[in-house]
Amino acid sequence: MASKVLPRFSRCIGQGFRRSIRAQCRNISCTPPAASEALQVHRDSPVNNPSIPFKFNEINNKLIAEILKRYPPQYKKAAVMPLLDLGQRQHGFTSISVMNEVARILEMPPMRVYEVATFYTMYNRDPVGRFHVQACTTTPCQLGGVGSDKIMAAIENHLGIHPGQTTEDGLFTFSEVECLGACVNAPMVQINDDYYEDLTPESTVTLLKALQASAEATGAAGGTAGIAGESTAGTGSTSGQPRGQSGQSGNVDEQAARGYAAKGVKMPSPGPMSGRKTCEPLAGLTALKEEPWGNEKLRTDGAL
Ligand code: FES
Repeated sequence: MASKVLPRFSRCIGQGFRRSIRAQCRNISCTPPAASEALQVHRDSPVNNPSIPFKFNEINNKLIAEILKRYPPQYKKAAVMPLLDLGQRQHGFTSISVMNEVARILEMPPMRVYEVATFYTMYNRDPVGRFHVQACTTTPCQLGGVGSDKIMAAIENHLGIHPGQTTEDGLFTFSEVECLGACVNAPMVQINDDYYEDLTPESTVTLLKALQASAEATGAAGGTAGIAGESTAGTGSTSGQPRGQSGQSGNVDEQAARGYAAKGVKMPSPGPMSGRKTCEPLAGLTALKEEPWGNEKLRTDGAL
């Protein structure tokens, strides 16, 4: 009997002792690191405080009316994201006044709008430069092509700023972001609404130089998008060229020629900067090269 009780008794003592030690050795908690460089709370500043008036312009009011038609009236708060996006495009960034105006239109508590705007990093809650350069550094971009580290270094060296900063002339804001969904054309950056893919340090610098030259040629240098405000709705493209309308080419020379001119300055077209049309293999097709079995046909123009 004693041989059964004693081991159990000593096991209970041991467990109690370990529990009491554990209870006294709790981890010291500290503030979690910020998930991005943006502060997740609002602080009044001269360019971003509730006393700065904001109203949607006529074009955006028409767009808002169209957007609201998509939702039953009792669920119109579901339109909070597109309205915040319109506000950002008009004002240049999602200021506290933009958020308050969206809350007023959608009859929501302002806090509910703040919660949305602070959750999604696409809403810039501080002014950004004329060109917002967002470099993806998630794993596929880190590993694809030359790797995003080299792209980050090229941007930092050329612009002289680090992620989270804006150049002194207000032309460029540089941000490091997570996957933008163009992994197959890694590494890539998003500049305003446009994607530039298959980047190398050289093509990145060429792109930045072209944007600088176009800003000087058009007189845009010296002002930030965030402060400029009152842009027309939906014109966040660096090119002003609708996506998918760039010329189609199959080699690097043609790709170089595929750019367009802005006030006489040659600009690279958005998309892959390697000569790829989209995301096909760089060395050509490796599969689906022959007429498939059955009654399906390949394209007769030989494109694919
Ligand atoms: S990892 Fe960069 S776009 Fe997906």
